[in-house]
Formats: sequence, C-alpha cells, structure tokens
Amino acid sequence: MEQMETNPDLRKEETLDPEDWSETRELSHRMVDDAVAYLRDVRNRPVWRNMPDSVRSFFAAPAPQSSEPLAEIYRQIFENLMPYAKGNIHPRFWAWYMGSSNYTGAMGDFLAAIQGSNLGGGNHAGALMDRQVVDWFKQMIGFPASASGTLVSGGSMANIIGLNVARNAKAGADVREHGVAAINKALRFYGSDQIHSCHRKAVEVLGLGNQALRRIPSDAGLRIDLQALKTAIAEDRANGFQPACVIGTAGTVNTGAIDDLQVLSDLAKEEDLWFHVDGCIGALIAIAPENAFRVAGIEKADSVALDPHKWLHTPFEAGCALVRNRAAHRGAFATTAEYLETSKRGIAAAEWLSDYGLQISRGFRALKIWMSLKEHGVEKFGRLIDQNIAQAAYLSSLVEAEPNLELVAPTNINIVCYRYNPPGSDREATKAINTEIMLRLQEEGIASVSDTTIHGEYCLRAAINNHRTRQDDLELLVRETVRIGERVSAGES
Ligand SMILES: Cc1ncc(COP(=O)(O)O)c(C=O)c1O
Repeated sequence: MEQMETNPDLRKEETLDPEDWSETRELSHRMVDDAVAYLRDVRNRPVWRNMPDSVRSFFAAPAPQSSEPLAEIYRQIFENLMPYAKGNIHPRFWAWYMGSSNYTGAMGDFLAAIQGSNLGGGNHAGALMDRQVVDWFKQMIGFPASASGTLVSGGSMANIIGLNVARNAKAGADVREHGVAAINKALRFYGSDQIHSCHRKAVEVLGLGNQALRRIPSDAGLRIDLQALKTAIAEDRANGFQPACVIGTAGTVNTGAIDDLQVLSDLAKEEDLWFHVDGCIGALIAIAPENAFRVAGIEKADSVALDPHKWLHTPFEAGCALVRNRAAHRGAFATTAEYLETSKRGIAAAEWLSDYGLQISRGFRALKIWMSLKEHGVEKFGRLIDQNIAQAAYLSSLVEAEPNLELVAPTNINIVCYRYNPPGSDREATKAINTEIMLRLQEEGIASVSDTTIHGEYCLRAAINNHRTRQDDLELLVRETVRIGERVSAGES
C-alpha cells in the first residue's frame, strides 16, 4: 500500500488537555480545599459586599488572545470573583426567592461536566439518570408513572413548557403546523393578580399576547378569588373567547399564598380547561410531612412546574416540567430531523430527551440533583421545608412582638412580609424608611431582604428558602431592622 504523506499542518496538533497532568491534579486539589473552606466559613463573611473599582475594571479587560498559566488564572478568580458573590448561599440571605445550593450538588455539577454527556438524549447512563430524576419528582408530587417530564433551566422555562402543551391541546387547530393565526377563537389563560411575571413572558412567546392572561383578583389571603374567576370565564365565553387554561399557584412569589388547588382542579374539569400548577415555590411542600396538606390537589394537575434550585437547593440551574399526558407533551415538541433518527442499537438506541422541550443540546442537570437526593434522602429535604416554614412563623411572631414593626400580609409558608412603621409616619415616609433599611442591611453585609408591594402596601420581604438559616439569624434581622429604622427615622446616617 502506498504510504500517506503526513500533512505538515498536523505535525503540531494541539489539544486543550494540560501538558502536565500532575500539576493540574495538584492545583485541582487546592481548588477543592479552598471550595470546602469557602462554604464551611460562609457564615463568617458579610452576606454581600460592593465591588471596588479594581474589580469592575478587571472584568472590563478584552478577550485574552494568548495563554496564561491556570494557577495564575485561579489566583485572579480568588481575588476578583469569589469574595463578591450575590450572597444567596449565606445563612442570612432571604431576598427574592432562591435556594442556597449545597456542596454535594456542586460536586455533581463538576462530575457532570467531567463526564461531559450531552443530555439531548441517547443510549447512555446519564440519560437513564435524567429520566430517573424526573420519575422521582413525579413520585414526590403524586403524579402517575405514565406522566412525562423534562429537566429544564428553571421555573420560567418549566412554566413555558407546561403552557405550550396547554395551548396546543386547547387551540382547536394545529398550531405547530399553522401557527396561532389558525386559532379560531382567541385563547384565554387565567391566574391570580399574584401570578409570577414569567407567565407574562410565557404567553408572549407563545404568540398569545399579554392580554390573553387574565389576572383575577386575589382575596384577603392573596389566593385567586374563585367567584371572580368563574365570572371572568363566563364573561369571556359570552364575548367569543376560548377559555383554555387556569394556572394555579402553589406558593406565590409575593407572599407564598397557595391557591385552592382542589377547587381549581374541579373547576378546570367543569369548564374544560387545562389545569397548570406553578409549583416553583411550593410543589415540593408535598414531601414535607407537616405541611403537605397545603398543596393537596397538585397531583390532579395536567401540568406542573417545579424548581429544584429552590427548595432542593440544587446549584443553579435546575427546573422541571411535568405533564400528565405524555403524548400531548411529546406531541408539542418532537421533531423528526433526518440527522436525529433513533437506531436499534448503539448510541442512538433511545428516545431523544430533546423531544420534550425546546433545547437539543442539554446540560447534565440530573447528576447534581440525584447525588444530593441520594445523600440526604427525600425525608430530610421534607423536614428542611417544614423547618423553613416554622422559621417563617417564628420570624412573624418576632415582628408582631415589636411595637414599631408590623406584618403586611399573612405568613402562609416561608415568606414574611413586614415593615418598620412607627406611629404617625405617612405612607411615603414609611416607604422611604423601609427602602433605606433594606439597602443598609445589604450594604452593611448583615442580611439580604428584598421589597415588594402587596395590595398597594409597600413592605420588606424575607423569603426563607435556606437550609443554613438559624433562629438567631432571624432574631438578628429583627434587631437590626429596628436599629436601622430608628436611625433612619432620626435622620442619622
Ligand atoms: C412562583 C414562581 N414561579 C416562577 C418563578 C420563576 O422561576 P425561575 O427563577 O427558576 O425561572 C419563580 C421564581 O422565583 C416563582 O417564585
């Protein structure tokens, strides 16, 4: 046989692998040591600190063109990145709504990247693990084994998945083929005025438009007003709209209110609506022994969005959409591209997981969830959910015991809405004082709370979705709120 000539360009072939594996190993061990210490000592650091100019300019540097030693890069990261975190792994972070991560999950993320599988699907162990984690979520909320599901980036995407299936199922036209223009009667979706803003994005990207989502007034408990919902549905039918879907919220972002899921399920049946539950905050209360009763009825939903990066503390990102009717779910997303055929044997001898969502290439999200569920067990996660709910009740009692503090909404689960409100201060002044309290708590690194407005009332908001929080952290929050409130009211800096 004739000898092939070596292509001269290939004589110096390159790779991204290290030249010296033992050096890499040593540095990696240091990174793990530092990571363990970073997490172990998180309580000793401020919740948040502002970045100096040197850090801001460090991140304005142009793209590097040539190589640098990894040890030097790591030094830069330790100096410029690690001290300036958002703070959500800290025991006194209660702003907005997010989980506080966990070490095992972080190792899962590392190993997932090392193993490197693309979870678009295929015949490999990672794909089995992905399906197993989805099965575990079905078991946790009482969904049937025949249901389907998919791991996604988070709650917003999980809601979009559920609502997309709902739209297609109720459109009365082949939306995939002909688009929303083929829908005869304009569709209407319903949720309370406390519904999360991601649903607005969802109906917009689904081509229905913001007005297709009717916000139904909430009652004094911040739950959807069922009579108002019935009236709106009847009104819409009379006006030629097609009521298509009711979205129940299991844990609203403002106050943690849980809509009456049993009644919503019955109503959806009577009215022939798709019943979707936004359970990003509260679906997993189903595993908490003392509070599971609050989400009874979730198992009857047509679709559920839930968020492991909240109450399972999975490192970001991890969301999950579950759909009762597997065929409807798959039918909303599956494609038959010639380059994605399945085969009888080999790597493609399995269903494509990408047929259940929008992404083709998918990160290996399952491993970080799987490892921490195996390590701690579902029961412990359930107890931690109960613990956060009990802590919120405790914080509420501390607020009520302080003459200058008040609760602004009922505490349902783990969200406490409160404010500093000394007698005689007017609305505008109260808002200004409380905003200043929030900012000083953050800037002094004491605690992180956020703010919101509920039925027109401005307040501070502590969402205790945190496995590191202790009672004394909550006592400190109350003490510091009062201290700063007094200083700000007295005009002191
Ligand atoms: C009730 C509710 N739904 C949806 C979302 C959106 O979830 P994500 O931030 O994971 O996209 C949130 C976020 O806090 C939420 O509280």
